[in-house]
Amino acid sequence: MGTKRHFRVWRGDSSGGEIQDFDVEVNEGEVVLDIIHRLQATQTPDLACRWNCKAGKCGSCSMEINGMPKLGCMTRMSTFEEDETVTITPLRTFPVIRDLVTDVSFNYEKARETPAFAPPEGVAPGQYRMQQVDVERSQEFRKCIECYLCQNTCHVVRDHEENKTAFSGPRFFIRAAELDMHPLDAREDRKEYAQAHQGLGYCNITKCCTEVCPEHIKITDNAIIPMKERVVDRRYDPLVWLGRKIFRR
Ligand code: SF4
Ligand code: F3S
Ligand code: FES
Repeated sequence: MGTKRHFRVWRGDSSGGEIQDFDVEVNEGEVVLDIIHRLQATQTPDLACRWNCKAGKCGSCSMEINGMPKLGCMTRMSTFEEDETVTITPLRTFPVIRDLVTDVSFNYEKARETPAFAPPEGVAPGQYRMQQVDVERSQEFRKCIECYLCQNTCHVVRDHEENKTAFSGPRFFIRAAELDMHPLDAREDRKEYAQAHQGLGYCNITKCCTEVCPEHIKITDNAIIPMKERVVDRRYDPLVWLGRKIFRR
């Protein structure tokens, strides 16, 4: 038999809502998503929450727990004090559909805007060959589960709706970095593209995205900063500058 604990859950839709109070049974080993399921089973059958794998791999159950962007299925109840109230709210950066479910289509639009991998001409699928060292270089970025917690956290869009058109966000900076490190990607200069079209310049490396990433991807250190440094190098390196001047004549 578990113990009763106090929860506060945001309920509402695009027209508005409110935080509601609930006392719910909590058992040993449970995660926040278990509590949401118990609420649905016992008190609020119409409470909306998106989830799928309950294993930290599908990226669906993103929510804010005591103000921190987290996966509901990976947040153990044992991480809170026994008498602590746990407040569960929807992701703040994206429009609410209902209760804990938000419309994350901003991210799909940014995904569509990111130019796809393009192999060199004349190389057919099945003929792609790359060194293991090159595979490993970008492996970290491929762990992304597209939970969008990093996108939700970044202040560039969290506090500034007006930046959304110009800023792709950390999830798509790691995609740009991954393709930039791919030896067979021949489409274009991903760093320059990130700077010119994905809003890389808006990022002031606060690292909040890295802090919330459930896959522990070093978004800022391993993707954003190296891309920024190389863009700056290229822009201000006197030799590159001279080369460009001569080339342009
Ligand atoms: Fe989630 Fe991390 Fe991918 Fe961002 S980079 S979407 S936080 S897994
Ligand atoms: Fe935003 Fe991450 Fe940069 S939180 S400001 S993209 S370091
Ligand atoms: Fe899949 Fe939480 S339900 S990550």
